[in-house]
Amino acid sequence: MKGLVKEGEQFIKAKGQPDVRDAGLIGAAQRVEHYEMAGYGPARTLAKSLGLNDVAEALQKTLEEEQAADEKLTTVAESDVNVTAAKVAAK
Ligand SMILES: [Fe+2]
Repeated sequence: MKGLVKEGEQFIKAKGQPDVRDAGLIGAAQRVEHYEMAGYGPARTLAKSLGLNDVAEALQKTLEEEQAADEKLTTVAESDVNVTAAKVAAK
């Protein structure tokens, strides 16, 4: 996780066109979301296997929140930031 956060910090500090930097930052944020999902999914499954249904339910809810955050980031990237970044990169 430290490496992922460091990667995001590098995009924050990077010079250059803001939309290109933002596209990289969104990607870094999505890598964090995927890392989190990779933790919550198996933990939920293990809780289910152990019969800890309340725990499994809470982990499932958190997993869905992480998925929703990832989808929002994709929407922002696809609808605006990546479009502008691609135009800048094509110049
Ligand atoms: Fe998250």
